Amino acid sequence: MKNFAPELDRLKALGRQRSLRLPAGIDFSSNDYLGLANHPALRAAAIEALQNGIEIGAAGSRLLRGHRQAHEDLENFAAAYYGCPRALFFANGFMANYALLTTLVGRHDIVVYDALCHASMRDGLHAVGCRTVKVMHNDLNAFEEALKKPRAAGSHLFILVESIYSMDGDVAPVRDLLDLAEKYDGLLIVDEAHGTGVSGPTGRGETEGMPHDRLISLHTCGKALGVSGALVCAGNEIIDYLINAARPFIYSTAPMPLQAVLVKRALEIVCDEPERRAQLAALKAHAAKCLPGIAINSQIVPIIIGEDSTAVTLAGKLQAQGFDIRAIRPPAVPEGTARLRLSLHVGLTPEDIERAAVAMHDLMPQALCA
Ligand SMILES: Cc1ncc(COP(=O)(O)O)c(C=O)c1O
Repeated sequence: MKNFAPELDRLKALGRQRSLRLPAGIDFSSNDYLGLANHPALRAAAIEALQNGIEIGAAGSRLLRGHRQAHEDLENFAAAYYGCPRALFFANGFMANYALLTTLVGRHDIVVYDALCHASMRDGLHAVGCRTVKVMHNDLNAFEEALKKPRAAGSHLFILVESIYSMDGDVAPVRDLLDLAEKYDGLLIVDEAHGTGVSGPTGRGETEGMPHDRLISLHTCGKALGVSGALVCAGNEIIDYLINAARPFIYSTAPMPLQAVLVKRALEIVCDEPERRAQLAALKAHAAKCLPGIAINSQIVPIIIGEDSTAVTLAGKLQAQGFDIRAIRPPAVPEGTARLRLSLHVGLTPEDIERAAVAMHDLMPQALCA
């Protein structure tokens, strides 16, 4: 039998062994940006749905008996909400990204992707074995250089980015990338995991208002929406093709209908309570004042440390002071860029941010300099 102990030892020696830890301390690490995970209206929606007899499990694939009214209601609602022809609901964002890439991209196609794209997208690409071009992070010229290279007849172009990068918090130039997709006859896939609910004029993400004829936007539902799942927004043909060919969609039990009910309710709350986004914006501005040496582009604030073990030690010291701040190490981030990832959300007070900033200044003044 294969022995995994040496591999665990290797990770330990590198300072990269992880273990599970229950939440403790002031939350600077969850993605519950709008505080919806504990929203009373979501609890009420769950109770009402259960009292009205909703089934707990879908008991089958969407293509068999697992397709329920709650899924259909959510997808119709989401298509209107995101202004796209159709939406398709998946159990989670990882599965949705993997399904998109393994279904839509062929072996002879070319995918130009940002160097910091999420593991779910990279795993999808790896499974396809297509030609890929990894482009320097957020470098629009590098994207264009890669796209303009001659390609064989019959090979199609895809561009792959996140709207707000999960570990760096900076924003992709999605409008310009959509223009490049138009210019070079490609399809742009934007993972809105960290834009959904928080960015765009009304919280629909960085792609808000953009047409979906050359765009697929993927809205995960486990971060700002406070539930779980993912909505793929695209044109009719693409959604029909996913339903017919996406193996993770076909060969898997449909998400719980209750999950669909709650995601729909969460989308309504984002719309009905814009004050949550305003509160988040105020916290971001406050964090920028407290951490003047750190570029704060979104609700995700990376503090680059470099060494894995230093990042782990610093996170441990902050945790001991009551702050739930986690170290992020490779492979989640590139080698040599271990960091503390601070997540801002409406459950924090300005005082929480001030106290964390003081604690960090005391522990690591150099990491907080511009
Ligand atoms: C950018 C990005 N895409 C996709 C995912 C996966 O989404 P989910 O947590 O719904 O599986 C994540 C979550 O870590 C993410 O940060």
